[in-house]
Amino acid sequence: MGKDKTLISAIGAVSSNGAIGLNGWLPWDIPEELAYFESTVAGAALVVGRLTYESMDVVPADSFVVTRQSDLAMRPGCTRVATVEEGLQRALATGKPVFVIGGASLYAAAWPYCDRFYLTRIEQSYVGDSFFPAEIPLDDWVVVDQSIRCLPERGSGREVVCRFMQYAQASPRPLPDTICI
Ligand SMILES: NC(=O)c1ccc[n+]([C@@H]2O[C@H](COP(=O)([O-])OP(=O)(O)OC[C@H]3O[C@@H](n4cnc5c(N)ncnc54)[C@H](OP(=O)(O)O)[C@@H]3O)[C@@H](O)[C@H]2O)c1
Repeated sequence: MGKDKTLISAIGAVSSNGAIGLNGWLPWDIPEELAYFESTVAGAALVVGRLTYESMDVVPADSFVVTRQSDLAMRPGCTRVATVEEGLQRALATGKPVFVIGGASLYAAAWPYCDRFYLTRIEQSYVGDSFFPAEIPLDDWVVVDQSIRCLPERGSGREVVCRFMQYAQASPRPLPDTICI
């Protein structure tokens, strides 16, 4: 438990064609996949991109919202940060486990610092306008856990194969220690 609190993790879901988002939300409607996300990050400090933050109905306390807008108003319990690195430092300072929850631009900036990536691979193609960053070298990370489930998709009624992967990066980049908190 104590050791986990020092880990930086990312979490997300991606379709077989690399889509992660559509029109500011998810391309799919798979309630049990969303429930997995919510239970995994429960009680954690979150680092989130501004667009994803604005798309969320409920944003937990100790959410650090990355934005270049210095005057962006925040919801209660949320903190504006100017860089991914500042968000990670401040999230770690809470003493809680830390999760980067997207979107694509946050994954692209944060992955070098991540110890873990929880990635649900949805074995179905979806139309999207936001895609998982191709530069994240997950093929070089170690698979430390995986499970597979067929989950119902709301609306279509079909069952979708979801592969719950957990990757570990051997040598994450250390965070710079020059950030003022
Ligand atoms: N499938 C999944 O697991 C998953 C997870 C999360 C999100 N999503 C989806 O992904 C889509 C959103 O992704 P996105 O990439 O377009 O947006 P995003 O990463 O959520 O937010 C982008 C914004 O974050 C700020 N930002 C990003 N990188 C920054 C940096 N290095 N320094 C400072 N600020 C930075 C900027 O805000 P300002 O413009 O305010 O400066 C930027 O416009 C949505 O459709 C969402 O539903 C999917």
